[in-house]
Amino acid sequence: MSKQITIDDLNIFYGDFRAVEGVSMRIEPRTVTAFIGPSGCGKSTVLRTLNRMHEVIPGAHVKGSVKMDGQDIYAAGVDSVNVRREVGMVFQRANPFPTMSIKENVLAGVRLNSQRLGRSEADDIAEQALKGANLWNEVKDRLGLPGSGLSGGQQQRLCIARAIAVKPSVLLMDEPCSALDPISTLAIEDLINDLKEEFTVVIVTHNMQQAARVSDRTAFFNIAGTGKPGHLIEYKDTETIFSRPDKEETQNYISGRFG
Ligand SMILES: Nc1ncnc2c1ncn2[C@@H]1O[C@H](COP(=O)(O)OP(=O)(O)OP(=O)(O)O)[C@@H](O)[C@H]1O
Ligand SMILES: [Mg+2]
Repeated sequence: MSKQITIDDLNIFYGDFRAVEGVSMRIEPRTVTAFIGPSGCGKSTVLRTLNRMHEVIPGAHVKGSVKMDGQDIYAAGVDSVNVRREVGMVFQRANPFPTMSIKENVLAGVRLNSQRLGRSEADDIAEQALKGANLWNEVKDRLGLPGSGLSGGQQQRLCIARAIAVKPSVLLMDEPCSALDPISTLAIEDLINDLKEEFTVVIVTHNMQQAARVSDRTAFFNIAGTGKPGHLIEYKDTETIFSRPDKEETQNYISGRFG
């Protein structure tokens, strides 16, 4: 299920503006990879190209290739809808559908893909996904109530449940803990650790302790100045990045001597 991602000389544009230049990296299945770097360096932009969410912005396009287990997701004839089913995404701000019940929130993606879903099948999928997102015990008695009635941390886990309910191979998370308290943050980090058993996980985070705690490998992105493209500076085992990086730029960033 879990897939390898190979990115080769990826250049990412918003119209004429080249936001990210020349990124090449390989992300192994069943690992957690953290993207770190200063604001505006292109972390979210790179993340969104991994499931073809980038191109939904008018004028946005890419050059280069992104392969999932060797298949180029940008090749002619590849359906972006299928790519997004394989590569799930959880956004920075938890965005459950407010009036939809907890259960229907979990099933929203599944229903898009399969029109006829039997009641017991739907119940099973919702239960498995909520268990996978470590939310089941907190919501099992109120599955019919609106998703907006949950706490921020619970809503974030609800969105994770929705993303894993369609059984993707890869899970992308853009700053999934930025709006959460330390307890909920640790809960999500535990969950990310469990999720890598089944998925290739890529997470963007501004929290370096978090990157150090949850990821196997860390990619440091940087930008030379406003209006310049972001670059991948260094990509290694997380332990190496945080203890003995090769590049001075990385060292300066992780030790807070940036800018
Ligand atoms: N929809 C968009 N249209 C035009 N330019 C954009 C768009 N989204 C991002 N950019 C630009 O692309 C560059 C990279 O932005 P991106 O959001 O990927 O950075 P980031 O590393 O995720 O930053 P942050 O840490 O603040 O989230 C920035 O210069 C940004 O202004
Ligand atoms: Mg971002």
